[in-house]
Amino acid sequence: MRQPTLGGSPWLAALLAAIATTLLAAPASAQLPVPSEEAYASFELNCKSCHTIGGGKLTGPDLKGVLERRSREWLVEFILHPKAVIDSGDAYAQEMFREARGVYMPDPVGMTPEMAGKLLDVVAVESSLEKSRFAGLQLSDRPLTEADVARGRRLFRGEESFASGAPACFSCHTLAGAGGFGGGTLGPDLTAVSARLEGRKGLAAWLSAPPSAVMAPVYRVAPLDGEEVLALTAFLEDTAASGAEVAEDGSLAFLLSGLGLAALVLVLLDVVWRGRYVATRAPLVRKRLVARRALEARS
Ligand code: HEC
Ligand code: HEC
Repeated sequence: MRQPTLGGSPWLAALLAAIATTLLAAPASAQLPVPSEEAYASFELNCKSCHTIGGGKLTGPDLKGVLERRSREWLVEFILHPKAVIDSGDAYAQEMFREARGVYMPDPVGMTPEMAGKLLDVVAVESSLEKSRFAGLQLSDRPLTEADVARGRRLFRGEESFASGAPACFSCHTLAGAGGFGGGTLGPDLTAVSARLEGRKGLAAWLSAPPSAVMAPVYRVAPLDGEEVLALTAFLEDTAASGAEVAEDGSLAFLLSGLGLAALVLVLLDVVWRGRYVATRAPLVRKRLVARRALEARS
């Protein structure tokens, strides 16, 4: 019977690996300062909406390992004055700016070099972890289905509530030029948005942390979950593909509700002003007939 000996490769390899890890890991983690709770809170509040650490790109790049890409000095300067660095013509910053589709990272309010340094410490520590607490929403890349489209439509229109209690998109947005009737007008029409944000990935990233001054405060306190983001993404992509159909739907609904409203007004008038209504109806009808005949005569 053979005994595994130290010379047997699995044992030796494991031992060497263990020694190597201890030797390598100890100095590296000793170099990383422990960021304060204040720094973590600041990242949470000011940076997380646009950056993940190891969770992929949102509006801004994934910050995992950023200290291996640029020097600390450069990064501190960038965090303090992103727009100025980009506009200075710095090639790296310009490339990043293009990747972000021309969105400038806003100058963080009240940022100091000390705080920028602490935020970079947070990024460094979190980058060294298997899974950072700032990895963001992990969206599945499963195929989107008809059921997603249908659920997205219900969520968009407020027929199904978001788990967090977030407001329906419909309260601020319209689709396919359905006008004021199709939804709110505070936000832009979203019919073509999936093309503008370059499809599923861009749209889903946008929705998991909306970088909109109006939407961010609302959806930060009541965020959408991953499945809701996927459903909305499916719906908006579907709408972009069949925009015309939805527009017709919308205008038909508009027309019908217009007629319904008119009927309601007539009924109300009839009830409230019964006497006057009767008295004025005949002359009104006569006037209409005269007008229509005049029109017909002209054409
Ligand atoms: C509104 C979105 C937004 C917010 C909030 C934001 N950033 Fe950015 N950030 C960007 C964008 C976009 C870029 C890419 C450059 C550009 O287009 O401005 C960027 C780039 C960066 C980079 C360079 C990344 C690289 O790959 O080299 C760092 C570092 C950075 N941001 C740190 C921060 C920190 C720290 C905060 C919080 C104080 C923060 N950002 C808040 C959008 C944002
Ligand atoms: C409180 C009003 C409000 C609500 C609710 C709202 N939005 Fe918005 N949204 C806006 C505004 C305003 C903008 C335009 C960007 C800006 O000015 O901040 C916008 C922009 C957008 C954009 C980017 C449009 C573009 O062309 O860049 C998308 C996508 C979007 N919203 C999707 C949604 C979805 C999906 C929902 C529902 C989960 C939603 N919005 C709910 C107000 C709102």
